[in-house]
Amino acid sequence: MKIVKTFTAVRSEVAGASAALVPTMGFLHEGHVSLLELAGGLGGPVVMSLFVNPLQFDRPVDLERYPRDLDRDAGIAAAAGVDLLFAPTVEEMYPSPPRTRVRVDSVSEGMEGEHRPGHFEGVATVVAKLFAGIQPEAAVFGRKDAQQLAVVRRLTADLSFPVEIIGAPTVRAPDGLAVSSRNVFIAEDDRAAALGLSSGLFAAAEAVAAGERNGARLESLVRDRLGDVRVEYVSLADAFEAEPVETLEREAFLAVAARVGDVRLIDNIVVWPDGSSDTGVRLERPSILRRM
Ligand code: PAJ
Repeated sequence: MKIVKTFTAVRSEVAGASAALVPTMGFLHEGHVSLLELAGGLGGPVVMSLFVNPLQFDRPVDLERYPRDLDRDAGIAAAAGVDLLFAPTVEEMYPSPPRTRVRVDSVSEGMEGEHRPGHFEGVATVVAKLFAGIQPEAAVFGRKDAQQLAVVRRLTADLSFPVEIIGAPTVRAPDGLAVSSRNVFIAEDDRAAALGLSSGLFAAAEAVAAGERNGARLESLVRDRLGDVRVEYVSLADAFEAEPVETLEREAFLAVAARVGDVRLIDNIVVWPDGSSDTGVRLERPSILRRM
C-alpha cells in the first residue's frame, strides 16, 4: 500500500484504472473495513481517503477531539486491501478557504441537517472535491449515515459526476450497537442506554415484517425502547429524498439520533414496503475500538 498526500499523486497512481474510492475521516473500525472489502470486490484499485474535514464540524470541540492516528489507520487499511491511502493536509484540500460550497437543498435539511447546521454542506463540498480530484469510477459509503448517503447520491447526480455510488450495510457490535468512532467516548454505565437505539430499530424491523406500514407507529416503537437518553429525532424518511414519509410505500430509512451522556449517537435501518429490512450485520467479536 502506498501513502500519498496530493491529488496529483493519486491521479498519477490510478490513471486509467477503474478505482473505487472509500472516503473516511480515519480512526478506522470494522465499519470502514467492510466498505474497503466491498470496494476491493469491485476489481479495480482501492483508494481510501483519510481527511478530518474541518468544514463539516459544526462544533469546534468535536473537530479538536476527533481521534487521529495515521500509523494505526495505515496498518488497518493495508490489511483490508487498500492500494492507495490518500491522506492530504488541510492545505492540500483547501489551499485557500473555499468560496465554492456544495449545498444539496432539501435532502440536507431535516434530521442531521437540522441538528448539525452546515454539516452536510461541509460533507458535500469535500466529497465533490474528492470526486473531482481523484476521478474514481465508484465510491462506497455506509448506510449507517443514511442521510449522508442520500446527500452524496443527489450531489453526484446533480453535478454529473460519472461515479457509481454504492451503499454498504451498517456494521454492529455483537450487542447490536452500531460501530462508530464515537463509541470510544461512551461511559461503561451508559452502554445499556446506548443499546436502546438499536433495540428500538430492531423492534420496528419486526413490526415492518409483520405488516406495519405506518410511520408514526414505527417511530413510537423506537421511542418506546429509548430509556435514559436525550432524543433528538426519530424519523421514517424517504431513502433518496430524506424527507419524512407517513406511510412506508417505497424504500425508506427509520433513523434515530440521541445523546447518551455527552455522546451523540445516530443509527437507522433501511425498510421496504414488501416488509423486508436491512438492519446491518453483527460482528462476532467486540469491536477493535476500545473505550477511551
Ligand atoms: P467517517 O465517519 O470516517 O465514515 C466513513 C464511512 O464509513 C462513511 O461512509 C460511513 O457511513 C461509514 N461507516 C461509519 N460507520 C459505519 C458502520 N458502523 N457500518 C458501515 N459503515 C460505516 O462519514 C464520514 O467519515 C465523512 O462524512 C466523509 C464521507 C468521509 C466526508 O468527510
